[in-house]
Amino acid sequence: MSAIDRRDFLVRSGMAIGAAVLAADGCVSKTLAGSPPLKLDSWQAVRGQFQLTPDFIHLAGFFLASHPAPVRAAIERHRRGLDADPIGYWFEHEEQQEAAVLRAAAEYLSVDPTEIALTDSTTMGLGLLYGGLTLREGQEVLTTQYDHYSTDTALRLRAERTGATVRQIPLYHSLKDVSSLELHENLIKNIRPNTRIVAVTWVHSSTGLKLPVQEMARAIHTLNESRTEQDRVILCVDGVHALGVEDFRLSDLGCDFLVAGTHKWMFGPRGTGLVWGHQRAWPVANAIIPTFNTQAYDIWMGLNQPKDLPKSVYMTPGGFHSFEHRWALDQAFTFHQAIGKARVTQRIYELNQQLKQGLAKMPHVMLHTPMSQDLSSGIVCFEVTGMRPRQVIERLRQQKIIGSVTPYATEYARLAPSLLNSSEDIEQALQEILKLRV
Ligand SMILES: Cc1ncc(COP(=O)(O)O)c(C=O)c1O
Repeated sequence: MSAIDRRDFLVRSGMAIGAAVLAADGCVSKTLAGSPPLKLDSWQAVRGQFQLTPDFIHLAGFFLASHPAPVRAAIERHRRGLDADPIGYWFEHEEQQEAAVLRAAAEYLSVDPTEIALTDSTTMGLGLLYGGLTLREGQEVLTTQYDHYSTDTALRLRAERTGATVRQIPLYHSLKDVSSLELHENLIKNIRPNTRIVAVTWVHSSTGLKLPVQEMARAIHTLNESRTEQDRVILCVDGVHALGVEDFRLSDLGCDFLVAGTHKWMFGPRGTGLVWGHQRAWPVANAIIPTFNTQAYDIWMGLNQPKDLPKSVYMTPGGFHSFEHRWALDQAFTFHQAIGKARVTQRIYELNQQLKQGLAKMPHVMLHTPMSQDLSSGIVCFEVTGMRPRQVIERLRQQKIIGSVTPYATEYARLAPSLLNSSEDIEQALQEILKLRV
């Protein structure tokens, strides 16, 4: 059957409609057909899946993913198919592959595939969500002083376009003695009767601080018990530095929306991301970019009767994408599952502890990230007396250690021990930081 015939057949038989979202039917590629099962029982084996140059110690892996072998192979397979016959390959694979990606993401997050919208980045997800959330006259958005440029700017643009009120608050006095209780109490006490949206970032890329999102969500649930559906506080989380690090199930987390790129800690294809929304929260979202979902498109063409599709469908922007990347995303989730979520978290915590303990002992180093893993995740921020953060990172790079500088008004040196690292890597980084005494 030709691609166009197949499309006609699918449309006529009604199968084209959202099969991608609604009936993921065993087309999930656990690993690529014909490839040997992933054996990721040692950290060396995990590291061996990446083509990162061995000349460096990579402590900025979260910035933008290096693709592990199964992701590279899937991208290559789709690229070849698209290069050979773009329209034919697209018709043959679009629904199937999108279903596979949604199913893999949903399995990983322990949610339903219809609750997930696919995006190209965290920024795209934040822009779509904050740009379109329904706000009634007088309702406000509450956010914090620590969010990334993308949250901040998405909210500012929304405010400029619609006149919406955005209020920004501090959550703690000092990182030295910050506590989970302080963070969560400060958020809750700042919620006013007209606060509709709470926009926070789970793991701050400015300091490495991790917010107690679950406790915050629980307190918001309690507060919501005395509110009507239209006034309910909606908790939105930028979760990009938690996804692929923290061992969580979205059903347990309790937020309404989680926005994340999948091209950082998740090792997904560069240019991929998602927005997850709880079923009770999706009605508050409004799409800004037309979706290219087949079912929605067919309704527009008059091929199908209008009907309600899941909001996540409309919140998945069209038009055409770099499909070889988007369709390879299932492999990243499979890769993480093959290692095991709990193992991933434990390993990242161990390496981060090693780095923080080492830095805390150095008199010329000021460690900013909390020591406790309850309040930190995979990012470590610090300063070296007498040196600018950029100098610190430059000097480390000269010694083949790659870090980054926090892209915020207050800059810190930032290292992020990850699955790409060994304990020896961390020791070596510590030795080099020790030598930075002026
Ligand atoms: C907290 C946070 N949110 C959002 C982003 C933007 O992510 P993306 O590149 O996926 O848009 C970053 C970093 O780039 C970040 O640190």
